[in-house]
Amino acid sequence: MSPSSRAADLFDLTGEVALVTGASSGLGRRFAEVLAAQGAKLVLCARSTGKLDTLKSEIEAGGGTAHCVALDVTDSTAIASAFDAAEAKYGTVTIVVNNAGIANPKRIVQMTEEDWRSVLSVNLDAVWYVAQEAARRLIAADKPGTIINTASILGFLVGFGMSAYAVAKAGVVQATRSLALELAHSNIRVNAIAPGYVLTEINRAFFDTDAGQEVIKGIPQRRIGKPADLDGTLLLLASAKASGFMTGSTIVIDGGHMLVGG
Ligand SMILES: NC(=O)c1ccc[n+]([C@@H]2O[C@H](COP(=O)([O-])OP(=O)(O)OC[C@H]3O[C@@H](n4cnc5c(N)ncnc54)[C@H](OP(=O)(O)O)[C@@H]3O)[C@@H](O)[C@H]2O)c1
Repeated sequence: MSPSSRAADLFDLTGEVALVTGASSGLGRRFAEVLAAQGAKLVLCARSTGKLDTLKSEIEAGGGTAHCVALDVTDSTAIASAFDAAEAKYGTVTIVVNNAGIANPKRIVQMTEEDWRSVLSVNLDAVWYVAQEAARRLIAADKPGTIINTASILGFLVGFGMSAYAVAKAGVVQATRSLALELAHSNIRVNAIAPGYVLTEINRAFFDTDAGQEVIKGIPQRRIGKPADLDGTLLLLASAKASGFMTGSTIVIDGGHMLVGG
């Protein structure tokens, strides 16, 4: 890019194929819309196929391109099938957004083994398996690519009832660094976004309570985030023209929450 190039060119994703997990809701839905608006062909993955169909229609109405794939990310066989479906439709997936996640807050003394495994399985294991699948296919196709993981400020902080979630998200931060190291020579970049609190279905019930409102008052910017607050960072990481020398980074977007602890 020359210094006089327009910013729009820097973030143009025409020709890219982007697979977003957890695209049926919240951040994933927004991520898919934003990538599609910059010209990427979207592969929308989640279990709620009705919601994916609605999103696909909205993307297409806006002039974008999208395909829906039913995917439970805890099923590694289904992950491979989702990439098969993506390739059959659009070719090699070049942008992966590892976004599917659950919270399931519980204190350790109340948690079952199943609670622990479900949070780790969706929030960490799946990130690793999806990245592995993407990387193998990019290398086989001899193409560059970018993997964007959704971490959290709870990858750095801790919170009551959030032990499994925090452990999983800390794992996502380290997986981002580890995979970035191993995949850099294959021209595959791996970075993460670590949001603070952003209002979505994962936390809406909590932030409707007095306790939730108190948490918002403790955020230095005195507000909860909205999914659009992540747009710029997503596009930065998605575009090799914008961030080609960035890999292994986790970018915090939290209204200053990390500055004052948990
Ligand atoms: N909102 C926040 O404040 C915040 C802060 C930091 C990090 N995050 C992270 O951001 C990501 C998105 O969360 P969100 O806030 O957008 O929550 P959300 O609105 O509840 O969306 C979660 C998404 O994950 C998908 N998902 C859950 N389990 C899945 C499974 N087994 N297989 C496939 N997809 C699955 C859901 O789709 P289906 O149910 O249709 O499968 C849904 O699309 C998560 O990784 C979350 O930890 C959120």
